[in-house]
Amino acid sequence: MKQVQDYIRTIVDFPHEGILFRDVTTLFADPRGFRIAIDQLLHPYAGMQFDKVVGLEARGFILGGAIAHQLSVGFVPIRKKGKLPGAVISEEYQLEYGEAIVEIHDDAIKPGEKILVVDDLLATGGTAEAGIKLVERLGGEIIGCAFIVDLPDLGGRKKLEALGMEVHALCAFEGL
Ligand code: PRP
Ligand code: MG
Repeated sequence: MKQVQDYIRTIVDFPHEGILFRDVTTLFADPRGFRIAIDQLLHPYAGMQFDKVVGLEARGFILGGAIAHQLSVGFVPIRKKGKLPGAVISEEYQLEYGEAIVEIHDDAIKPGEKILVVDDLLATGGTAEAGIKLVERLGGEIIGCAFIVDLPDLGGRKKLEALGMEVHALCAFEGL
């Protein structure tokens, strides 16, 4: 039986030479692959109560929407700078070259709400860390951070665990 990682396509030299890009669009496009991915992302949280799912742009929106529907809770997007129309709070994070900024609506989470953070992939953890900071600045209580792919050699899991986060990933790829 195919496992989640068997549905993920690897593209060599994208977006730069030397990078193996883990492409989850082939997982999302497969009806069984997408369903087992959503089921497995939710598995550790069975019986737990959440108030909202927070998804990180862009592939975290696809996962987060399906997960929020399954949990019958609301969905909140964290977007790249300048995309959200209302009042926002922002966090800067490091990219391979330079910095980026992500934002959340300042009224999207109420203090004490229990939050599940989702994205497709955990690499250096910079994106997720910025998202975690935004949720915590609004008073959200993060119950878990769930990803399809972990790239352990890039240290993201350790970074998030050092922040006290419970990290759940469906598969890991060694190397970069
Ligand atoms: C990718 C991926 C994660 C992030 C992981 O997104 O989807 O969100 O990088 O990297 P990190 O752990 O080193 O921060 P990307 O920034 O390419 O943007 P996109 O999802 O909008 O395409
Ligand atoms: Mg992303």
